[in-house]
Amino acid sequence: MLSITTIIFLIIFVLVIAFKIYMKVTTGWCRSHTCLVGKTAIVTGANTGIGYDTALDFAKRGARVILACRDEGRAEEARVRIVEETGNKNIVVQLINMSSFESVRGFAKKINETEERLDILVNNAGAGGIGDKRSTDGHVLLMQINYLSAFLLTNLLIGLLKKTKGSRVVNVSSIAAKYARNFEVADVDKFPGIYSVYNYSKLCNILFTIELAKRLDGIETTTYSLHPGAVKTEIFRHAKGTSKFILNFLKNLFFKTSEEGAQTTIYCSVAKDIEKYNGAHFEDCQEVPAYITTRVPGLSKKLWDLTKDIVELKPEELLI
Ligand SMILES: NC(=O)c1ccc[n+]([C@@H]2O[C@H](COP(=O)([O-])OP(=O)(O)OC[C@H]3O[C@@H](n4cnc5c(N)ncnc54)[C@H](OP(=O)(O)O)[C@@H]3O)[C@@H](O)[C@H]2O)c1
Repeated sequence: MLSITTIIFLIIFVLVIAFKIYMKVTTGWCRSHTCLVGKTAIVTGANTGIGYDTALDFAKRGARVILACRDEGRAEEARVRIVEETGNKNIVVQLINMSSFESVRGFAKKINETEERLDILVNNAGAGGIGDKRSTDGHVLLMQINYLSAFLLTNLLIGLLKKTKGSRVVNVSSIAAKYARNFEVADVDKFPGIYSVYNYSKLCNILFTIELAKRLDGIETTTYSLHPGAVKTEIFRHAKGTSKFILNFLKNLFFKTSEEGAQTTIYCSVAKDIEKYNGAHFEDCQEVPAYITTRVPGLSKKLWDLTKDIVELKPEELLI
C-alpha cells in the first residue's frame, strides 16, 4: 500500500510533467525560411536572453545585425559567439543605454549617419524589479528603459525605416500588460508600485504599437507587439528574497528556453504576409485578441501625445 504522502507526491509529479508537456506542445515556432541577406536589423538588448537568440536567428538568415547593447564587454562576447556559431561576420556592436535619452540620441545619430537601410528594428531591451528609481533624465527608470527610450529610438529611426521598403518595428511587450488595470496616461511618469510599473511599461509598449500602426497607414513599414511567454532569462536578476526563490523555482521547472522565447519576435520580424496584422499583438507566433487594458478608446493617441513631450521630440523629428 502506498502512503498518503507518496500518493500526493506522485499526483504533483504527474501534474508537473503534464504541464511541462503542455508547455512544449503549445510553444509556437517560427517556421519561416525568409532569407535576410542584404537586410539590416537592430536588436536592442541583444547580448543575452530573448534578444540574443533573436540576433542569432537573424545572423543565421544572413542579415547585417546591429547588437544595440549597453555593456561593451557583454556585447562583444555575444558578437563573437554569434559570428562563431553562424559564420556571419556582418555582426556589429553599437552601444546604447536605454536609461539615458542622450545615449539613445547618440545611437540613432550614428545609425542614421552610417546605415543605408533598416529592415527590422526590435525593441527588446527591458528590465524588471528595479524599484522606485529615477533616471538621470528624471523619469521612472523602469518606464524609461522599457518604454520611453524605445519610443524615442523608433521615432529617431523612422526616416530610415520608411525609406526601407517592407521594414518592420517589433515591440517586445508582455502578458503583464493584461494586468495593468486603471492605467491613465499620466501614470507614465509616476511610480505606481514595483509590479504595476512593469505592467504599465508593457501596456505602453502595446499602446505605442497600436498608435504607430495607425500613423504608418499607407506607408510600407509595419509594426507588431508580442508576449514571448514565460522565459528562462536574466530578467529577474534584481529580484530578492522569497520572490527570487519562487521565480528561480518556477523558471527552472516551467519556463521556455530563450530560443523558444525568441520565436514570436522572430516570427513578427520575418514571417511573410503578416502586414494585414499591422498594429496587432502576438503570442506563440499567432495573432491574439487585444488585451482589454489596451481597448480604451483614444488611450493610444493620448499616450503618444504625452510621450513625445516627455522624450522632447523636436518639431523636425516628428515625421509621423
Ligand atoms: N523573460 C520573460 O519571461 C519575459 C516575459 C515577458 C516579456 N519579456 C520581455 O522580453 C524582453 C527581453 O527580456 P529577457 O527576458 O530576454 O531579459 P534579459 O535576459 O534580462 O535581457 C534583457 C536585455 O535588455 C538589456 N537592458 C536592460 N537594461 C538596459 C539599458 N538600460 N540599456 C540597454 N539595454 C538594457 C540587458 O542588457 P544587460 O545584459 O547589459 O543588462 C539585456 O541585454 C524584455 O523587454 C522583457 O520585458 C520577458
